[in-house]
Amino acid sequence: MDLAGLTEDLHALRDEAIAAARAAASTGDLEQLEVDLLGKKGRLTVVLRGIGSLPAEDRPRVGAIANEVQTAMRSALADAASSLRSRELADRLAAEAVDVTTPGRSIRRGTYHPIVETADRITRIFEQFGFVVYEGPEVEDDLTNFRMLNIPQDHPARDLWDTLYVDVENHLLRTHTSPGQIRVMQSTRPPIRALLPGRCFRYEAVDASHASEFFQVEGLMVDEGTTLADLKGLLDQFAQAMYGRGQRTRFRPGYYPFTEPSVAFDVECLVCGGSGCPACSRTGWMTILGAGMVHPVVLQYGGIDPERYQGFAFGMGVERIANLRHAVTDLRLYMENDLRFLEQFR
Ligand code: DAH
Repeated sequence: MDLAGLTEDLHALRDEAIAAARAAASTGDLEQLEVDLLGKKGRLTVVLRGIGSLPAEDRPRVGAIANEVQTAMRSALADAASSLRSRELADRLAAEAVDVTTPGRSIRRGTYHPIVETADRITRIFEQFGFVVYEGPEVEDDLTNFRMLNIPQDHPARDLWDTLYVDVENHLLRTHTSPGQIRVMQSTRPPIRALLPGRCFRYEAVDASHASEFFQVEGLMVDEGTTLADLKGLLDQFAQAMYGRGQRTRFRPGYYPFTEPSVAFDVECLVCGGSGCPACSRTGWMTILGAGMVHPVVLQYGGIDPERYQGFAFGMGVERIANLRHAVTDLRLYMENDLRFLEQFR
């Protein structure tokens, strides 16, 4: 091997390397190419072995050429690497691009059940008068659901509440929210202003106007000097907040064992405005709740001295109020979980 031959080999290797670097398809290929060309056992090393057979005076010359060739190869590799890197980045950006103009997935928005929404509305109104929300248990005992509310065992008044018993130990599904009155009185000192919304249960033959599961909101106020006039004033305010200023109301005598006297509270018919229609049985009035002055016996069961304190209570069916607000005519709709019904209350 002579100087000319070795120089030619070096230049050929350089030209080949530059072409290969330009042709590399990926940065991975380039790294492999660098090892093949410039690595310890790479092709440049192999070519340079030929130096050994050159005369000593030619060797520095070859060294200089080899350096140039190596520099040229390195810079070809570096150029190729940088253009490949930007091409790979551009490819990745294109492949992973997010199309911000694609419409988003719509969020499935829920809605309050009309009963929950109506109970909330009722609660909001009484909260403005200082009433505080309490909750009683849905599984009650006979004592609290009946006896402490002045409804003795075997008393005919029990016929008003068709009861679902849970066991023979006198547990039952509460037939009304009134037992909550006892629980509030036993756990709080007067003055009391309590509101008790909740689910109630009765043994009923279910039809458009009878459900075995329904909601009530109970109210209880106990203080010194509480009168029936306070009850009337409060309920008038409630009716106006619920149905609008000027809503006419009336008390009628009623009967409940736990209040004395007891009343039914009517609003002027919300459908016909009082002239008489099928919705009000042509009376011009609709009964929306029962109420009265808490019976002294009930106060005593609640641990409250009836000589010092008086109270009033009221209880209303939430379905009845929701029916009137939304013109619903069949109670069963509330419990069927039919979205075609429920979605109307958005
Ligand atoms: N608990 C009664 C019922 O279920 C409703 C009721 C009437 C509640 C009069 C009261 C009341 O607090 O004073 O029919």
